[in-house]
Amino acid sequence: VETRKTIKKPNGPVSLLKEQIVFLREFFAEFKSTGTCFPSSKWAADALTRPIQGERPAQNILELGPGTGSVTIKILEEMQEGDRLTICEINPRFMQALKKMLLENEDYQKHRDKVTFFEGPVQSLPVEGKFNTIVCALPFLNFDLKTIQEIFARLKEVSLPDTVMTYYEYIGLKEIRRIVSSAEKKQLIRESEDFFEEVFEKHQMHRSKVWRNLLPIYIYKLEKMAA
Ligand SMILES: C[S@@+](CC[C@H](N)C(=O)[O-])C[C@H]1O[C@@H](n2cnc3c(N)ncnc32)[C@H](O)[C@@H]1O
Repeated sequence: VETRKTIKKPNGPVSLLKEQIVFLREFFAEFKSTGTCFPSSKWAADALTRPIQGERPAQNILELGPGTGSVTIKILEEMQEGDRLTICEINPRFMQALKKMLLENEDYQKHRDKVTFFEGPVQSLPVEGKFNTIVCALPFLNFDLKTIQEIFARLKEVSLPDTVMTYYEYIGLKEIRRIVSSAEKKQLIRESEDFFEEVFEKHQMHRSKVWRNLLPIYIYKLEKMAA
């Protein structure tokens, strides 16, 4: 039996162009928090959502930094009976564009009473329930050590012992940043990198690559986020 997938999101050239315009505008207006001028590809979204794919118990899912929603639509596609999703976005313009886009998304219509939006920084995310999976698109390389530490402290508070988190980083960006930065900046970068080394060890980091993305990315998977 041939099953045809319904279109989950209008993805004609006009919609893609609109999404790209929103992204570019925020890239220039809010460079530090946006971090990139391109939304993630469907291959990146697929890799980031792997922990919620396939057979599994119901999950409480947290998405950090949805932007225009390229990863959100994949999370919604993978949502199963009993799942809940919280979407946390710091930028009100992204949040507005996301909510507008979701109105036309069939998976969102199906699960909308299980979806909660939090507009604000993840550092202020209310600790109401704990999450099983965190799908994160925050541009950590743009943040200083204090911000990164605050984010990980909050994530620890909202995690269960077996919570898994995925996030991405552009391949080679760390190295370029090291080369082009001033001596003073290099020291700050080293401090953040040392922090991440500890995170990787504590959370049994696993890293894979996605080439089909503008630009290619590493996907990081961290485990036991409450540790
Ligand atoms: C690199 S973009 C990713 C957008 C989208 N998920 C994608 O992959 O195309 C980073 C997103 O994180 C959001 N963001 C940055 N800092 C944040 C914070 N502290 N709390 C919540 N969202 C944040 C930005 O506004 C932006 O939407």
